[in-house]
Amino acid sequence: MTCTVLTPTRLGAVELSNRLVMAPLTRLRCGEQGIPDDVVVEYYRQRASTGMIVTEGTWPVPEGRSWIGQPGIATEEQAAGWARVAEAVHAAGGRIAMQVMHGGRLSHPEITGSGRVVSASATTGPDPARTPDGKVVAPTAHALTEDEIQQVIQGFVDGARRAIEAGMDAVELHGANGYLIHQFLAPSTNLRDDGWGGSPARRARFAIEVTRAVARAIGADRTGIRLSPENSIQGIDETDAEAVRETYATWAAAVAPLGLAFVDVLHHDPASFLVQEIRRISGAPLMVNTGFDAPSTREVLEGFLERESADAVAVGRPLIANPDLLRRWREGLPENEADASTFYEGGERGYTDYPFAG
Ligand SMILES: Cc1cc2nc3c(=O)[nH]c(=O)nc-3n(C[C@H](O)[C@H](O)[C@H](O)COP(=O)(O)O)c2cc1C
Repeated sequence: MTCTVLTPTRLGAVELSNRLVMAPLTRLRCGEQGIPDDVVVEYYRQRASTGMIVTEGTWPVPEGRSWIGQPGIATEEQAAGWARVAEAVHAAGGRIAMQVMHGGRLSHPEITGSGRVVSASATTGPDPARTPDGKVVAPTAHALTEDEIQQVIQGFVDGARRAIEAGMDAVELHGANGYLIHQFLAPSTNLRDDGWGGSPARRARFAIEVTRAVARAIGADRTGIRLSPENSIQGIDETDAEAVRETYATWAAAVAPLGLAFVDVLHHDPASFLVQEIRRISGAPLMVNTGFDAPSTREVLEGFLERESADAVAVGRPLIANPDLLRRWREGLPENEADASTFYEGGERGYTDYPFAG
């Protein structure tokens, strides 16, 4: 039988009624305190017909916060807000995983509240930081010490535990797009020459340790990760193909014995040797997304399922604009266009007011 987006599947402990996954999408509607409110509950509830939702990147510790308005999973109040989101999605028949994200150097001392931003090494992001006062010069990061690295790993563990206790079906670690885990993976941001850097394999260690620690805490069958090898954005330079292959293969081999729920890979060619090798070596189900160039289409993504290059597909912008995207794809209905001007602001506008079909 040919596999389509409508075919059910299982990612670790999570049963999905279809293979259309809502990709993590930062929307910055959670206020100064980072607590999901009624509007956020409604936004996710509207999208519960997808096989699984992955939430927007959510900070496990205040120093991991990248923007004001981004939600956290560092406090009981934030966990209570997320519990309402999970309950609403489950009541509507859906599944939901939380993307746990530490922004690392892609933040500002005014946002982290600790007077600094942290990373693998003392580097500076390429773009201005977004603060409440507007865009300002990016700060130079404090290079994490050995003890601090262990504290950050513990922060991921505590956040992941809180997410599961709040009712999330799984956790997706954010290892992509230039944030902290990716800052350790990439040679342009990891200039260390200790056990955490200095060679392609050692650059994988932080991602390995975070994955292991979280899997130990919440179960590997509820632990996934997003990776974006060769996605050279936000100051990441992963253009040395052999080094990239070695780094990600090292990660995949180290986590293979765990039996992860899924690996979510953002790559312009998910059928490439690099991506398929991550899948083969890790042994984890593969979710794919082709990245930022053009919004996902059913035709392109379903091709990867049909050719068995993926087990599930992650869709971003079309799900911002079409809460009922699954139905539209099933019935061949036209899609609403996403309004990029409301991606990161606008309250309910451009958030919960996109029309359902018919
Ligand atoms: C508004 C917006 C916010 C995003 N936020 C996140 C995020 O929090 N975490 C993440 O891993 N990717 C994030 N992404 C990337 C998306 O998950 C997705 O990979 C990208 O939009 C390409 O897929 P698409 O063509 O289906 O939109 C974001 C993208 C957009 C447009």
